[in-house]
This record gives sequence, C-alpha cells and structure tokens, in this order.
Amino acid sequence: MNNFKYKTLFKSISEQIDLPDNAVIADLGCKDATFLLAFQEAFFGKIKSAVGVDITDKWFKDVKYKKPIKLEVMNCSKKLKFDDNTFDFVFTKDMFECVQDKDFLVGEIHRILKPGGVVICVNCDWDSVVYNGENKELISKAIHAYAVTKQPWMEDLDSWIGRRMYGFFNKSKLFYSTVSVHNVVETEYNEGTFGYELSKDIAWLHKENTGALSKEEYDEFIGNLQAAQNSGKYIFSKPYYIYKGVKI
Ligand SMILES: C[S@@+](CC[C@H](N)C(=O)[O-])C[C@H]1O[C@@H](n2cnc3c(N)ncnc32)[C@H](O)[C@@H]1O
Repeated sequence: MNNFKYKTLFKSISEQIDLPDNAVIADLGCKDATFLLAFQEAFFGKIKSAVGVDITDKWFKDVKYKKPIKLEVMNCSKKLKFDDNTFDFVFTKDMFECVQDKDFLVGEIHRILKPGGVVICVNCDWDSVVYNGENKELISKAIHAYAVTKQPWMEDLDSWIGRRMYGFFNKSKLFYSTVSVHNVVETEYNEGTFGYELSKDIAWLHKENTGALSKEEYDEFIGNLQAAQNSGKYIFSKPYYIYKGVKI
C-alpha cells in the first residue's frame, strides 16, 4: 500500500472500523474496487466475503481481484439485491451524490446491515475544495463550475454532499451517527497528486462545451496553478467528510 494515493484518507477511515472475524462487507459504487482491495489488505484474514457493486462494469475488467472479493453490476438507486441483515460493514465513497433518492438508499443500507453493523460513507465537499493562485475569482469559478455541473452519467449532483451526509443518515433515526473530516493537503502541483488530477478533470467543462468554463478561462486557471507552484505558493486542499453510522 506504499504508493497508495489514498493512504492517509484510508488510515482515517480504517481506524474507525473494527471488523469481526469472518466479516461480510460491501462497497457501493466501488468503481475499480480500489478501496475493497485496501480493506482486504488492511484486514487480512478477517474478511469472509467482500462484494463491490457499481452501476457499470467498465472498470471491473482491469481489476486484479480474487476471492473473497466479488464484483457485481447493481444500481444503488433501486432496491439493493441483497438480503436483510447481510453485512457487518457497508462502505460507500463519492457515490451518494449521484443518487436522487438518498433517503431510500439510507433505508436500504440499514436493511442490508446486520444489527450493530457499521456504515462508512465518505464524500468530498466539492464546494470546499481550495487551490491557491493569483486570480481568486477565476479559481473559485473553475472549482464551483466543476462542483455544480452534472456529468452525463450522474442521476443527481450535490456539491455540498460532504457536509450534508451526516444529516441524511442522522435524521433517519436508524443509526448512531458520528462524523469527522479528513483534509487532503498538498503543496506540490505534480502529476499523480489529487490537485493535479482534479485540475485535469476540470478540462471536461470546456471540452464538452458545457458553457460553465471557456477554454481561455481553463488555460488561465492552469497557468495560475503552475505559477503558484513555480513561486512556492501552491496549496491544494480537499475535505473528505467521513460519516460513520452504527445500525440501531
Ligand atoms: C466518483 S466514482 C467513486 C468510485 C469509488 N467509490 C472511489 O471513491 O474510488 C463514483 C462511482 O459511483 C458509481 N455510481 C454512480 N451512480 C451509481 C448508482 N446509481 N449505483 C451504483 N453505482 C453508481 C459510478 O459508476 C462510479 O464508479
């Protein structure tokens, strides 16, 4: 796990979990199973079965996984195809914001967890992402545009999902709820960093002609980040809200 990009975030998450022996776990919206593989390594020998589900299997073929991990296509907006009281632990990261009926999914997670089972739901608060650079207005515009512009595969998008996640679960009265925040902070603008990768993702706003950010604005935004890096002023910060619920 030495080169694992999410090392510090994963530590903040895994410190909050105490899996029983023969644990049965799930990752909803698992994409390429990055986190399931990390759980398998961190809790080696404790996991009996680990299922990752996603609305598409397009990332599954590149995943080097083996038992106890199983990957399935499933739409988490619908009734989940799992029996009641199945899981000791349900994990979901950066997926909730894509689902329209969040209350329904909260109920489904409660249903599939065993009594006393734990859910951890991790979400970036996209409207709280920070880059340093000279042109404040432009940098804020680029981040906000990215945060609020729905990509074609998203059923829904809530750029405040990080700060709102606690409320979605807590108001259900189905869980004992706590929340913490893990902040990713970087001071280098280099390939492979969160800040660098996000700045490249933001290009979709002009490439797909969304109207949210022009190519000129995007190029100036990147120029600002590079200038900040060159002058030693670069900072990137991204808050991940970590909601933990214990099934009542
Ligand atoms: C931003 S990615 C996060 C992936 C992974 N959890 C991570 O943090 O590395 C969001 C994932 O949620 C999946 N997704 C979106 N809507 C979904 C839905 N309704 N049901 C299941 N998966 C969904 C997407 O296909 C994508 O893999």
